[in-house]
Amino acid sequence: MAIKFKNQLKGKRLTLKRTKPSLKMAKIMFKVIDENRKHLEPWFPWPKLTLKVEDSLKYLFDKEEETEKGKKIEYGIYINNEYIGNISIFDIHDKNKSAEIGYWLSSAHTRNGYMTEALKILEKEAFERLKLNRLQIKIDEKNKASLGLAKKCGYTCEGKYREDSFSEYFNEFVNSVVYSKLRSEYKKR
Ligand SMILES: CC(C)(COP(=O)(O)OP(=O)(O)OC[C@H]1O[C@@H](n2cnc3c(N)ncnc32)[C@H](O)[C@@H]1OP(=O)(O)O)[C@@H](O)C(=O)NCCC(=O)NCCS
Repeated sequence: MAIKFKNQLKGKRLTLKRTKPSLKMAKIMFKVIDENRKHLEPWFPWPKLTLKVEDSLKYLFDKEEETEKGKKIEYGIYINNEYIGNISIFDIHDKNKSAEIGYWLSSAHTRNGYMTEALKILEKEAFERLKLNRLQIKIDEKNKASLGLAKKCGYTCEGKYREDSFSEYFNEFVNSVVYSKLRSEYKKR
């Protein structure tokens, strides 16, 4: 049976709200992406492909298929009702109880501990309610902020995939570092 995801998760300062396919959400998301191109383009291919509100709307509709199959859930990150970024669990594997986490935040809101909090909220959901066993984060070796976040949040570095993806931004093959946390490690906190 496909997983039933929650619409909202609450932390001390942040609320995570499921990103639903609507023109309103597409406009909100596109505005933040558009204002953060320089901040996001080194680490993701999609900002360059997100050129108008309709692109965000298509993205929101397309990802619903994965959500309906129980493979992915994406939440918008809100502080005092202001949308400031996204965090998602994707590639959820039923039998292995494993998944990957991805995230981004508007540059104006970085270094306030917000992604640390968002990650903790999502981990709680993933390990406690969704009963996942392993979460992984795959990070470009050059992405110091994301590497620092994974380390600070207690993820273990497993190693490196050498030149496993081509970055159009850097115009070269880049290495990815894999960090993970297991359910048994989460429980030890
Ligand atoms: C990576 C990102 C999500 C971090 O979000 P954030 O809310 O600023 O992170 P936090 O404030 O919770 O910081 C947690 C820790 O991460 C590390 N960190 C965060 N930003 C950093 C930076 N610019 N340089 C070095 N370390 C950094 C620090 O160890 C920090 O702990 P500290 O503040 O106690 O030193 C944000 O920089 C971002 O959206 N970057 C662009 C998108 C991206 O790279 N996504 C991830 C792709 S894998």
